[in-house]
Amino acid sequence: MSKFHTETVTYVHHWNDSLFTIKTTRDAGLRFRNGEFAMIGIMVDGRPLMRAYSIASPNYEDHLEFFSIKVQDGPLTSRLQHIKVGDELIISKKPTGTLVVDDLLPGKNLYMLATGTGLAPFLALSRDPEVYEKFDKIILCHGVRKVEDLAYREMFEETLPNDELFGEWYREKFIYYPTVTREDFRNTGRITDLMKSGKLYEDIGLPPMNKEDDRVMICGSMPFNADISEILDGYGLIVSPRMGVPADYVVERAFVG
Ligand code: A2P
Repeated sequence: MSKFHTETVTYVHHWNDSLFTIKTTRDAGLRFRNGEFAMIGIMVDGRPLMRAYSIASPNYEDHLEFFSIKVQDGPLTSRLQHIKVGDELIISKKPTGTLVVDDLLPGKNLYMLATGTGLAPFLALSRDPEVYEKFDKIILCHGVRKVEDLAYREMFEETLPNDELFGEWYREKFIYYPTVTREDFRNTGRITDLMKSGKLYEDIGLPPMNKEDDRVMICGSMPFNADISEILDGYGLIVSPRMGVPADYVVERAFVG
């Protein structure tokens, strides 16, 4: 039996020259937890060319959504960026991953820290009722180079606050904190620097992270993940050593931004 489902692309949106979103049909048998990734790809010369992609759509939706960067010489994304509605996308049948609420100990605040397309798993988690049930505050920090890289900004600033299902919860609990490093914006600087200087905490009105109250999910480039982990270790937070072992923070290791 094949390890993949073949799905049909139903929507493509190019945010700018380097970022795009794809939606596809979803096999009714596909099960996943919000925050997990699947292997997705296309057939090239009769063989599947696959990469790990976090599923950006929540698991109760009947479609699947993926948020991708375009790398001009990237084996998959150089091709994937030309995909059109009606084309086929192959998707692994068994999503997995470390960014799941189950692998966090109970806490007060959930920080979701992302750079670039590392935002993807948090797009699903931001629409997961369990996240709102388990935490008092959910803080999403999205670090990008330019304002135009703040994909999904409208969803966080306009759609979710007014959402029929999530609106009330979202307005009470969710803090969207976008920050830009190479242009002027209301928040500027790297997430790591904003944590070290304390500016992040001043801006969002919460005390610096501590082991008692705070739980963290990290999804960005390898250096970002490493630098954030070092800061969290310094705060005394403990990383989940492997899937199924809950701790204070989790890191997505499959993501290559
Ligand atoms: P910067 O512009 O200072 O490099 P990229 O597009 O290279 O993946 O970067 C996305 C965002 O992540 C940029 O704002 C970038 O800041 C930031 N970034 C890159 N590496 C790190 C890191 N090690 N720690 C914190 N932020 C980082």
